[in-house]
Amino acid sequence: MRVLVLSSSPRRNGNSQTMAQAAAQGARDAGHDVDFAYLSDYVEGLFRDCRTCRNLDGACTIADDYERLLLEHVVPADGLIIATPLYWYGMSGALKTFYDRLFCYTSGSAPDGETVVDGLTGKRVALLIACEESYKGATLGVITQFQELTRYLHQELIGVAVGIGNSRGEVEADPARPLDHAEDLGRRLFDARVTDYRIDTPRSNRVWGERPVAAPLR
Ligand SMILES: Cc1cc2nc3c(=O)[nH]c(=O)nc-3n(C[C@H](O)[C@H](O)[C@H](O)COP(=O)(O)O)c2cc1C
Repeated sequence: MRVLVLSSSPRRNGNSQTMAQAAAQGARDAGHDVDFAYLSDYVEGLFRDCRTCRNLDGACTIADDYERLLLEHVVPADGLIIATPLYWYGMSGALKTFYDRLFCYTSGSAPDGETVVDGLTGKRVALLIACEESYKGATLGVITQFQELTRYLHQELIGVAVGIGNSRGEVEADPARPLDHAEDLGRRLFDARVTDYRIDTPRSNRVWGERPVAAPLR
């Protein structure tokens, strides 16, 4: 499978980037074809009023490489691993801009919008967050936002790894071992169990199949 790791911190050797590398290694170990992109190589302009920047064909004219990122890296991927530092209890501004500008390529007036929408749906997504605070509430906003935006895009959020650190690379010292967690998410991107039951969803009373036969007592 094709996996895109999207690293959204302006610090290239920072904590979310370290987590992204670990997840990329896990995905490679699982035999996937891993592509790595730094958002700052592609995205410069903020989302604007489309009336000011769409051309006569409805195409976005913001002069950066967003379109190349979207069409050549994001759309062809089967799975996305998205890494962000926590900024003001949310995702990085660059990552938010990435999502804001999807509008320009998916709205009714965008040329080929349906193709882009088809290319965005059905992906498996893992989220990696680096932050300074260990308070659980700190990351809830961004996790909830990803839960909702993946639901909206018909994608599956398979898991979230949170690494605590502030100075560059410090996340490696987090005793909760977020790099191992990130690596595991990368490895299990397409295998991790994701459920979202309703009261009438048919299911067995066991989650992981039959109980292994216990070894006889000696
Ligand atoms: C603009 C800015 C806002 C931040 N806001 C938060 C915050 O709300 N909560 C938090 O725990 N850490 C916050 N931090 C700390 C970073 O999340 C932390 O240093 C993280 O490890 C940076 O990841 P990076 O190295 O991948 O850039 C902030 C840092 C910056 C620069």
